[in-house]
Amino acid sequence: MSQPENKHRPVRYKEFASSLIHAAGISRDKHTGAVTLPIYFSSTFRQAQPAEFENWEYIRSGNPTRDAIEELIAELEGGITGLAFSSGMAALHAICGLFKQGERIIIGTSVYGGTFRLLDRVMSNFGITYTQVDTQDLSAVEAAISPDVAAIFVESPTNPLLTTCNLREIAKITQKHGIISVADNTFMTPYLQKPLKLGFDIVVHSASKYLGGHSDLLAGLIAVKNKEIGEKLAYLQNATGAVLAPFDCFLLQRGIKTLAVRMDRHIENATAVAEFLSQNPQVAKIYYPGLPSSPDYETNRLQAKSAGAMLSFELRAGANLRAFFSALEMITLAESLGGVETLICHPAKMTHAAIPPEIRQKTGISDNLIRLSVGIEDKKDILADLERAISAAFDA
Ligand SMILES: Cc1ncc(COP(=O)(O)O)c(C=O)c1O
Repeated sequence: MSQPENKHRPVRYKEFASSLIHAAGISRDKHTGAVTLPIYFSSTFRQAQPAEFENWEYIRSGNPTRDAIEELIAELEGGITGLAFSSGMAALHAICGLFKQGERIIIGTSVYGGTFRLLDRVMSNFGITYTQVDTQDLSAVEAAISPDVAAIFVESPTNPLLTTCNLREIAKITQKHGIISVADNTFMTPYLQKPLKLGFDIVVHSASKYLGGHSDLLAGLIAVKNKEIGEKLAYLQNATGAVLAPFDCFLLQRGIKTLAVRMDRHIENATAVAEFLSQNPQVAKIYYPGLPSSPDYETNRLQAKSAGAMLSFELRAGANLRAFFSALEMITLAESLGGVETLICHPAKMTHAAIPPEIRQKTGISDNLIRLSVGIEDKKDILADLERAISAAFDA
């Protein structure tokens, strides 16, 4: 059957929100012209002669549905290679495969608990060590670089304290010392911040969060701008095998199409929540780089379009956290973030429980810290729920 003639015609657009829908990869299926990405479930592909094939050989090393999402993330982040993994942790693990026994990685003082655990309990068995450094302090970052340091790994804003670090300056330091720079862009997404454009080598995502956007998917993505690093990571992806399955690739690109509209609403609601919390006398501390009073406001403003929709806070001494969590009627107490629904969590007992208490205390993750992933419900309901729960925390 003949195919529509215009199936290979380039799609023209200029703006990021259009690229979410029309970027290379997901814009019209190259093979059929289908407007919505088809899912190719086949695990293997016919060869003309042994080892003679055009594009695909076996599902782990590549397939058309995964190619589409990989091309998409590369374009969205401004990279040349994209890679899709079965989880954010699988993507982070593949990045660790770039390093050898005896090498050291510098990480920020506040990173996702799973990232800390991967380095502290898993990579340490393979002789790859880490040092935690306050990445806001550029001279401390520079001072921590010794000949065994192979990479620096940062989150900005961090999970769960929402501290920001100067990505441009950190990239300059890593370039000067010839070490690899990795940024976890999960909290921001490429809609708000593009670390590769700020000088970083590798961007990694837990795409289970805002990129997927609906709390129904586990996925990890990597984008890189250097061909050689991209090839090494693609090799590791195939060699270790934690690739994203075709159906999940479909779900992910489906979620990404609405990223811009979702993020705009997430941010509008988060701004309202941050203002509400900062005016509430029962709130002792609020961590949100979007508030002009935040020490992170300026750094974030210079490198990102907005502060996103994650925030953390602490209630005044004497708050009963059990009563607070029990009083919530719409906001859900659950791990994860970045979905359409507002989620709340208690990092010390949940997302960051893998970090030993003494390190948590030292890095400012107090036992009273509450983290909020502000969803896209009507903000009046979010604010009413928080107000009710905060009152309950002090009535108990
Ligand atoms: C900032 C950050 N990076 C990485 C991960 C790990 O991603 P995944 O849960 O998709 O494995 C998470 C998970 O919460 C995260 O919050």
